[in-house]
This record gives sequence, structure tokens and C-alpha cells, in this order.
Amino acid sequence: MSEAKSLPGARKVVIAIDGPAGSGKSTLAALLARKYNYINIETGAMYRALALKAMQSGASLDDGEKLAMLAQQSRIELAPNREGNRVLLDGADVSERLRSQDVTDAASRVSVHPRVREWMVAQQRAMGTNGGIVMEGRDIGTKVFPEAEVKIFLDAAPEIRGTRRFMQSPATEAPEASVLAELQARDQRDRTRANSPLVPAADAVMIDSTYLTLDQVVARAIALIDARLAQSQTTGV
Ligand code: DC
Repeated sequence: MSEAKSLPGARKVVIAIDGPAGSGKSTLAALLARKYNYINIETGAMYRALALKAMQSGASLDDGEKLAMLAQQSRIELAPNREGNRVLLDGADVSERLRSQDVTDAASRVSVHPRVREWMVAQQRAMGTNGGIVMEGRDIGTKVFPEAEVKIFLDAAPEIRGTRRFMQSPATEAPEASVLAELQARDQRDRTRANSPLVPAADAVMIDSTYLTLDQVVARAIALIDARLAQSQTTGV
């Protein structure tokens, strides 16, 4: 894939990518960020970092007020690189630790609390004020950047997402069936929580990757983004 921008001098926009676990958001976001020379921000990593901090400090995952306070006292830094984001929690690189199953479950639990989400959304908005970002998560097109120029909702059948997750973690000792069960439980929580549930924005373009290769998904996203950038260049909007 060419790394050159397809439209030199084009205005830098916000590209919002939402979708459930295992839909391929992170891979797509990293490739798009590289192609357009944008900054890639994985917002899930921020929820994961807060979950880890709560686990380390013994804070209850059900206490939203306490968790929001903990978030304010924490330094969560995302350092974008070619593959995604390294994550620093209070200065320590916790990137690998954040991928473990206990943190994954805890992240989904801390993310249900409105006060936690308020804090996260404020941080995330501040990161994208100048555009030039690919931000991926669950509520980017609906809550973080409802005005984003490009919104993609990436989805795939649960069985496919479960298999992809299983294949991505060869070191895992969990059998494929339990990876799928965990993913479905997390999906259910993310989609049904009262505050900012995972739903496509009304103006998001849906890409279902169940029967698509990665190259096909990327090609669709690029076509969409290039059309939007061309439109924004001619209309200034
Ligand atoms: O994308 P991820 O798997 O790293 O996200 C971990 C959890 O964080 C996920 O189960 C839900 C939550 N999350 C969220 O609520 N909103 C976001 N924008 C990103 C993640």
C-alpha cells in the first residue's frame, strides 16, 4: 500500500472508527494512519490502562466515582507507533499487560460508568482538536467526535471475530470456545450499557468484514476517505 497521501495538501480531518471487539478496527486504523500520515489513537487502551490502575490499587470496578477520581490522578499516555499505540501508565510501559484477559474484562466493566466516560471523552476530544487523527473505539462517531468528517462502523459475525481473536493470541491457553464466549459477553455489556452503548452513528458507513479480506476492507475505507477529502477540498466543509 502506498504511504503517500492521495490528496497532497488536503485538509486534515478526523476519521472515526467504531465497532465491536475483533472486528479489525485496530488493524484498519493503524493502516489508515500510516497511509494518510495521521496519528492513530486507540481509545480502548485508555480504558484498559484505567482498569489496570484500578486492579493495582484495589479500587472496586463498580465504583464509578472512585474510578473517575483515579483517572484524574493517573497519567495515561498513548505513544502511537506503526503497529498501534504503546501505552504508558504513570510513566511505565504497560502495553503488553493491557492485552491480558483480566484487564480486558475489567476495561469493559470500568467503561460502563458515566463519570469515567466523561473524563475519557474530554481527554480524547483534546487529542483531536486539530484533526489529522484516526481514532478507534466504541463511541467515537457518536460521542467523542459526532462532527467527524469520516465515520466507519466496522462489524463482523461473532464467530469470525472470535476466531480472529483466538488466532491473534497464539500464546493463549484459553480454548477457542472460551475466547468466543468471553467476546460475546463483552459485546453484550458494551452494546447494552446505559451510557454511550456501542451503536453505529446515524451517518456512519457500515463495513461488514465477515466475508471480506483485510485488503478489501482497507480499499473500501480508503475510497470513502478519499471521496470525503475531495469533497472537503472543493466545498471547504
Ligand atoms: O477496543 P478495546 O477492546 O481495547 O476496548 C476495551 C474496552 O473498553 C471495551 O470492552 C469497551 C471499552 N471502550 C469503550 O467503552 N469506549 C471506547 N471508545 C473504547 C473502548
